[in-house]
Amino acid sequence: MILDKISSLLDEINNLDAKTSEEVENLRVKYLSKKGEITALFDDFRTVAPEMKREVGQKLNELKVSAQNKINALKEKHAAEAAQAERLDVSREGTSHEIGGRHPISIVKNDIIDIFSRLGFTVAEGPEVEDDWHVFTALNFPLEHPARDMQDTFFINTNPDILLRTHTSSVQVRVMEHQQPPIRAIFPGRVFRNEAISSRAHCIFHQVEGLYVAENVSFADLKQTLLYFAKEMFGQQSQIRLRPSYFPFTEPSAEMDVSCSLCGGKGCSVCKGTGWLEILGCGMVDPAVLEANHIDSKKYSGFAFGMGVERIAMLRYQIKDIRLFFENDVRFLKQFQSAL
Ligand code: PHE
Repeated sequence: MILDKISSLLDEINNLDAKTSEEVENLRVKYLSKKGEITALFDDFRTVAPEMKREVGQKLNELKVSAQNKINALKEKHAAEAAQAERLDVSREGTSHEIGGRHPISIVKNDIIDIFSRLGFTVAEGPEVEDDWHVFTALNFPLEHPARDMQDTFFINTNPDILLRTHTSSVQVRVMEHQQPPIRAIFPGRVFRNEAISSRAHCIFHQVEGLYVAENVSFADLKQTLLYFAKEMFGQQSQIRLRPSYFPFTEPSAEMDVSCSLCGGKGCSVCKGTGWLEILGCGMVDPAVLEANHIDSKKYSGFAFGMGVERIAMLRYQIKDIRLFFENDVRFLKQFQSAL
């Protein structure tokens, strides 16, 4: 009997539920689509006896409206849930981004800059691709000097006049050609040498150059400046010693050793039993270099020094292989993160 069918479907409809919006759609198809169960009842309606039509028609319409209401309610419920799921949960913990650390070379370079800026040195930089004049000729290198050799110097496009600077002393020239004394500045930067790469040498490394030119600058000023630097860098107990050396652009020239901070000068494997570590080259600016840069060498004198940043970082952090600085393995770099 059609009335029984209507009332059992009405029960069914009232108890409908769906877990997803696809399930809601399936229910709509099942009951209300062209081939749906309720639609089918409307077809049956034609065969209903005329005296029953009024009652059945009314019930049938009620059933259809109930089904539509129910399915619309389920649809809305799922749409609201989907919107809720997309909403930002502000109480959730954020994704944390790791903060990078400074490279150990940058840490040491910045420390060197800090120490010399406390003595009134400013910072300047020059180009890495240089010409022969700034790297060699203006610095009093004789034409036949071995440092000019293809073995040491990288030349650009086989043009012997354009090259990668082999030392930051080229920035001394860049500064002196534009500025009259007093000059008191340091020049950090990368340098390039055509050397076989090993645990102790690399074809790229960093230097910090220092230049002080003024009236009456003496070797004692140089020594005192470098002693201050050594104590600030390696600890107040540090001592220095200057050994005679040779550079074309300084006269006299010296190499500076600092007392080994690991063994306190007693001798260990790092200082190879000597108690001393060589850390820089220095000297009084050769008058010929001042004159090449139109600075009156009778009125002015000066000192210069140059140190390798990798060398100092290796001593400070006890790093045995210079290649670690260029490989940038995060397991190596992470160890310096606290020193931001
Ligand atoms: N330029 C020298 C080097 O690379 C270091 C140096 C700089 C020496 C300044 C004396 C004065 O070895």
